[in-house]
Amino acid sequence: MRKKAVLVGCGNMAATWVRALRQPDLDDRLVVAGLVDIDLAAADRLRSEFELPECLTGTDLDTMLSRVQPDIVFDVAVPSARLAVVKASLARGCHVLSEKPMATSMPDARQIRQAASEAGRLFAVCQNRRFKEGIRRVRAAVDSGVLGSLNAMHCDFFVGAHFGGFRDAMQHVLLLDMAIHTFDAARFLSGREPLAVYCHESNPSGSWYAHGSTANAVFEFSGDVVFTYRGSWSAEGANTSWDSAWRIVGSKGTLLWDGENAFSLNLVDGDEGFFRPLVQVDVPAAPDPRLVNGHTSVIEDFLRAVESGREPETRGRDNIRSLAMVFCAIESAAARRRVEIDVQEAA
Ligand SMILES: NC(=O)c1ccc[n+]([C@@H]2O[C@H](COP(=O)([O-])OP(=O)(O)OC[C@H]3O[C@@H](n4cnc5c(N)ncnc54)[C@H](O)[C@@H]3O)[C@@H](O)[C@H]2O)c1
Repeated sequence: MRKKAVLVGCGNMAATWVRALRQPDLDDRLVVAGLVDIDLAAADRLRSEFELPECLTGTDLDTMLSRVQPDIVFDVAVPSARLAVVKASLARGCHVLSEKPMATSMPDARQIRQAASEAGRLFAVCQNRRFKEGIRRVRAAVDSGVLGSLNAMHCDFFVGAHFGGFRDAMQHVLLLDMAIHTFDAARFLSGREPLAVYCHESNPSGSWYAHGSTANAVFEFSGDVVFTYRGSWSAEGANTSWDSAWRIVGSKGTLLWDGENAFSLNLVDGDEGFFRPLVQVDVPAAPDPRLVNGHTSVIEDFLRAVESGREPETRGRDNIRSLAMVFCAIESAAARRRVEIDVQEAA
């Protein structure tokens, strides 16, 4: 029988979700039975855009949960609404898949983790940038050990993005609303955990954001791996990919990835000469095609977890470690000092 879902937050991102949910593989297994937004017109617009005549719309989540009694809530509301939406949904026995970020503070994230555990329901976060061809290829290459022992990951994120809306007024906008993807990617690519960070955050002159459009951070990861991040949402003139440009250095060579479809993997091939001879090696295609379709893949992974009882890849209990990178970076920038990340506590 098809699961019933309610989607909360019918703004810009919601169309991406509903489009994914209408893909045949998901549509056969799940029906969107309710749309909730504090702005009823937004919910009604989404319903008519995707021709969902049977779908209820409303402004009050509790009322919608009573009327629809869904199995799942998809939370696509603004980050500041996250805690209330997730707790209300878990309390009604729903599994919840939220947009990133998981929460707007670590105490909120811990409350969500606790609420999911007490309710005995799944809670996961949409880290859709893990579910793309490029990152899966790079992860498989790093995982294969071809680079030797992993030493460092460096990444550049420079995207001059003019959103308007909630981001213009948000505190720590880059770290909290975007770097969460990149930091999560660093954990995913390395398979290591973050131990400490030093971060510098600023809002340079000319920035069209209220706060924190730029950040530079150095993370210490387990296994002596260093991860450096240079990021800006207010740098005009030379955008990188939304998935950043990466340089991953191991004891045997270097893998470059432009965040899109360009890969270069050079390995040392000889032990003589000022510059050692190199051999260029292919980065094989992604091993599992089901895992490279962005939001569709995240939702599919989550739905499979609901159906089977196994845990989704981006479960909150794991994602809280990526969020801890964000908040320790924010703390480091405010205090202008290195901050240790308590991975045990975060988990
Ligand atoms: N994964 C990604 O790649 C990606 C990309 C963009 C945005 N996002 C995330 O998606 C979420 C939504 O972003 P957006 O760009 O759609 O924002 P948006 O402002 O366009 O839409 C958010 C909607 O939430 C509604 N809302 C606010 N408070 C609510 C509440 N208490 N209950 C119900 N609805 C409420 C607003 O009325 C609005 O319609 C954010 O968490 C954002 O970080 C993720």
